[in-house]
Amino acid sequence: MLRDEHFLLTRLLRGRLNKGVAIYPGSFDPPTNGHLDLIERGSKIFEELVVAILRNSEKSPMFSVPERREMLRELTAELKNVRIDTFDGLMVEYAKSIEATCVLRGIRAISDYEYELQMALMNRKLEPTLETVFMMPADKYSYVSSRLVREVAQAGGPVRGLVPEIVEQKLREKLDPAYKLEQPGLVEVPRRRKRKA
Ligand code: PNS
Repeated sequence: MLRDEHFLLTRLLRGRLNKGVAIYPGSFDPPTNGHLDLIERGSKIFEELVVAILRNSEKSPMFSVPERREMLRELTAELKNVRIDTFDGLMVEYAKSIEATCVLRGIRAISDYEYELQMALMNRKLEPTLETVFMMPADKYSYVSSRLVREVAQAGGPVRGLVPEIVEQKLREKLDPAYKLEQPGLVEVPRRRKRKA
């Protein structure tokens, strides 16, 4: 291998943590800019990253699982080593079924730490070979959570900058169905039939 090729290859692989599959599990109701930031960071250090949406019938989500999957697909279309999936039951069992060796989770602030630590240690108890890796999203998203985004949007507040544009649009459509009618191109307007002469 030429020196230049070697240099390029090592630059490309710099920061790669793991050759296998990593899983980024969550509710993503809805996906936020913080989630997206973490997915982008994760996609740089793992060979393949599976964003796995929990199908949880107990919760009453704002967006259905297919809606969340579609939004995440659209948002990650450019990231070729990222795919979107859904799972039910124990996360460690799902991770095993797709041969994932790492779990990716984000920590925004100290307040996340306790819950994340508990979850990581419980997952380790359930499956000692599955390693949890924590990453920090950009500090500008350190206060952004799906729950707060839902709360602000439901109260009619602005969520620009906290979620990707397509999510902002979906929130508007969800909370104000009339919005869809006001946007040209969002709904198909039936053509009027020509009257017979
Ligand atoms: O986005 P969230 O709601 O913080 O994600 C939490 C999630 C989905 C990662 C967690 O609740 C989970 O893994 N649930 C699956 C059930 C499970 O394995 N529970 C034991 C985890 S300690």
